[in-house]
Amino acid sequence: MDFPVYRPRRLRKNELIRKMVRETAISTDDFILPLFVSFGKNIKKPITSMPGHFQLSVDNIVKEVKEVKSLGIPAIILFGIPEIKDERGSSSVDPKGPVQEAIKAIKDKAPELIVITDVCMCEYTSHGHCGVIKNNDVDNDATLELLSAEALSHARAGADIVAPSDMMDGRVGAIRDTLDENGFENLPVMSYAAKYASAFYGPFREAAESTPQFGDRRSYQMDPANAEEALREVELDIAEGADIVMVKPALPYLDIIRRIKDEFGYPTAAYSVSGEFSMIKAAAERGWIDHDRAMMESLISIKRAGADLILTYFAKEAAKVLQKA
Ligand code: PBG
Repeated sequence: MDFPVYRPRRLRKNELIRKMVRETAISTDDFILPLFVSFGKNIKKPITSMPGHFQLSVDNIVKEVKEVKSLGIPAIILFGIPEIKDERGSSSVDPKGPVQEAIKAIKDKAPELIVITDVCMCEYTSHGHCGVIKNNDVDNDATLELLSAEALSHARAGADIVAPSDMMDGRVGAIRDTLDENGFENLPVMSYAAKYASAFYGPFREAAESTPQFGDRRSYQMDPANAEEALREVELDIAEGADIVMVKPALPYLDIIRRIKDEFGYPTAAYSVSGEFSMIKAAAERGWIDHDRAMMESLISIKRAGADLILTYFAKEAAKVLQKA
């Protein structure tokens, strides 16, 4: 059908009609809010590059999750800022570490909230890389043991889902085996399956104090130019037992989200990373774009691309917008 028989504008006439034919809906149920949990007490340290976000000690995390819950956000993902860092990231398995303590406190005070934990070494190593270093590079196989131990430690503390973000080969299988051997066969793994070596992680590294002290992450995170490789990464993670597969970042990789959803039909998460958040914040602060519209448009685009779950620093603000709608 061609013009003038078909006139697409007929269905754009007013908001009621537009609502009726709208193809994609976004809901607060889709959101996962990242939170940074610090050692210490009574800490609420602003992250300057991420307005509205803080490093929070466990006491303050508990207050925060109550608000998160009251907004209807179903899940959070925790990142730890430990007191001590060393070459091997030993504090990642400390049962009294900030993440482990936070899980326990949250499960105690807000048991209905899903607590996901980021499993990676970069927040715990003195050099800031995502595993142990051998010959100036991250040693893949030696790192698997550490990641498995970290995931188990989170599971023992009461985590609902573990999410490895390190990009070592074979880590989903290694973590799955360890969890199963220890009676956690029902604990899901959400793998950062296609995680790119991205410039958009900049503000996060301030937040998590996890900037690599030498080199970069390109020997383990993916080349932004590659899409076929993302499919292979996802295939491997599913074969190793991943329950949810993630693409990260989100906005520069919407094509990857779509291809993965179409190819595998698996629960698919997208991580709209710190840089995506901070760009909108910075432009809105200058009055260059409308904050709420830019926020909602990016979230809907991620959903439209095929994501079932969205990890976003906008979760609270977007939940408020959705409440009003
Ligand atoms: C840890 C990790 C990173 C992010 C999530 N988990 C940083 C990195 O890989 O350097 C980035 C999240 C964000 O930018 O919001 N490996």
